[in-house]
Amino acid sequence: MNHPTRAVIARPLAPFTGTARVPGDKSISHRTLILGALTVGETTVEGLLEGDDVLATASALRLMGAHVERDACGVWRINGCGVSGLKEADDVLDLGNAGTGVRLLCGVAAGHPFTTFLSGDRSLSRRPMGRVIEPLEEMGARFLGRSGGRLPLAVTGGDPLLPLHHELRVPSAQVKSAVLLAGLHAPGTTTVVERTPLRDHTERLLRAFGASLEIVPGENGRRSISIAGHPELVPVDVHVPGDPSSAAFLVGLGAALPGATLTVRHVGINPTRTGFFETLKDMGANLTFTDCREMAGEPVADITVEGTVLKGIEVPAERAPSMIDEYPVLAVIAATAEGPTVMRGLGELRVKESDRLASAAAGLEANGVRVDEERTGLVVHGVAGRPPGGGCVTVDLDHRIAMAFLVMGLLSRDGVAIDDAGAMDTSFPGFTRLLEGLGAEFGEWTG
Ligand code: S3P
Repeated sequence: MNHPTRAVIARPLAPFTGTARVPGDKSISHRTLILGALTVGETTVEGLLEGDDVLATASALRLMGAHVERDACGVWRINGCGVSGLKEADDVLDLGNAGTGVRLLCGVAAGHPFTTFLSGDRSLSRRPMGRVIEPLEEMGARFLGRSGGRLPLAVTGGDPLLPLHHELRVPSAQVKSAVLLAGLHAPGTTTVVERTPLRDHTERLLRAFGASLEIVPGENGRRSISIAGHPELVPVDVHVPGDPSSAAFLVGLGAALPGATLTVRHVGINPTRTGFFETLKDMGANLTFTDCREMAGEPVADITVEGTVLKGIEVPAERAPSMIDEYPVLAVIAATAEGPTVMRGLGELRVKESDRLASAAAGLEANGVRVDEERTGLVVHGVAGRPPGGGCVTVDLDHRIAMAFLVMGLLSRDGVAIDDAGAMDTSFPGFTRLLEGLGAEFGEWTG
């Protein structure tokens, strides 16, 4: 799955007042499609993220026999095959750029006694899959892949698949979810232990779909999650909240632009996802949450932000899992702040869509901002105002690097260019159009 590359420049933006709504949550969208495909009957989804990642998961599930369609009103309808009822695909499942899609589908494929082939784009093909392969092999699935457990992969499901007690070795919600999804297909109880709270959308949705789940909290945020195998899942009508990781680009922009006022509506504020908003508050941002309510078993709110000059802080390392996708935008916001912002405990950022510590550091340096890149951290030396800009950033198939540096361009003196605007369609189709509605200007970049 390749898109044509297009270089774009974001020009400096004047303070604005506005309201916006971001696309549906990517994590919840993938999970809803997958659970719908494992359910007999019709699951409906409103507000599904129609980004490339989620569309790739929808195509993969279709190839495995589920009916996944979008109606004329934009409602997605999934008629699934029941737990362990998917069929062998006629072709390779190409997950494009989608780490969540491929890792969760490894868990599903592990529960089906035939061979499933999985591939992805250049970015996904360099990411580590050993973290899901190891526990799923312990359950009885077999994997064949490239060195380092990298894509393309062949997965032969366990026959039967065995239940597992698994303590997570990396703080990854994708691994937790892959094992829980595999646990649906194993007789008995499968347990995953997380040492620190990770996003819990899988657990919330599994319960909504009728699975039997026991969650036992331990000390210091440790949780033990047990799922009973072979449930009969029931279809659900899901309303997907706005993605807090997408909202972060807008809220961050509004927070760092003195004189701006912005409300982002219907944003998911699941406490396992709100670390970025807490960090902005610690940096002195004026952020308010109103109309707090529930959607699809998830807390949702409207977020209003008023811009100011933020101050650099040390971000608590233990906050990382609740804002793991927000470090690229935090790095560019930190460039506008007064004093250094220290971000540590971020080894996982090296294996995201790009090496995000290296991409963010290179992008900041190319735009006149001093930054120290550490093995597992980043220190950004803010300039207390508009950073210079003037450079072009290599996106390297990373949607969040693309959007973060367009935000930097809007906050800069001379604008910032990115070499591949198409990457943003992964998670936030219409990103530049939405910003244009708030007064932003983008142009073609010719170097
Ligand atoms: C996700 C979990 C995170 C995150 C990714 C989405 C999920 O990855 O970075 O964008 O939906 O479970 P890890 O689980 O690898 O930390």
